[in-house]
Amino acid sequence: MMADPSSIRALNPLNLVVLISGNGSNLQAILGHIAAGRLSATVAAVISDRADAFGLVRARRAGVPAEVVARGDYRDAAAFYAALLRRVEAFAPDLVVLAGFMRVLPERFVGRFAHRMVNIHPSLLPRFKGLNTHQRVLDAGERRHGASVHWVTAELDAGPVILQAEVEVAPGDNAETLGARVLCKEHQIYARAIQWIAENRQLAGRGQPLAERAQAS
Ligand code: GRF
Repeated sequence: MMADPSSIRALNPLNLVVLISGNGSNLQAILGHIAAGRLSATVAAVISDRADAFGLVRARRAGVPAEVVARGDYRDAAAFYAALLRRVEAFAPDLVVLAGFMRVLPERFVGRFAHRMVNIHPSLLPRFKGLNTHQRVLDAGERRHGASVHWVTAELDAGPVILQAEVEVAPGDNAETLGARVLCKEHQIYARAIQWIAENRQLAGRGQPLAERAQAS
């Protein structure tokens, strides 16, 4: 259950760092839910691995610090991920939010944010992990598709699911039309899942990781 807006004000806002690679529509939705008082969070920074990500423009328009940490500026992957980790940690996030960040983070990075990093994936996990989910769902003749918010673990798209939303596959759908409906759902469930974490985080320090509570509920 989402808290009603009056009680949201009583919560300490969850400090978020959002990682993106592209359009940033999920970032935009999160910012919108915060502005509307439906999400008790602050976006401390948006970090992109691509300088041309439109999400950087969205962040700056909203007055959110926006940075680029690009792979090409580092001699190897290890140096790149070490730099990314330093920049994320500089903002002391309660939660790292992957929102269309198109890289598989190494174990060392993931381990640093155990139970403190979430991702959104355009499928009903555990089905259709990886890329091109909309076309693969169509090719498989599925009748249902959707999106999942999940905790990030070392295995790609395999961490415990927090929240899912379904859409029906319509006759005549193509990857674009189906993907657009899934994206609309993403914009709703990502903020709901983050709000759920904001409301439950006090419990995280009491011996039961939030990821386990998410699975149990
Ligand atoms: C979304 O479909 C998300 O599920 C996937 O990447 C896409 C990002 O879209 N991980 P946007 O950049 O938030 O518009």
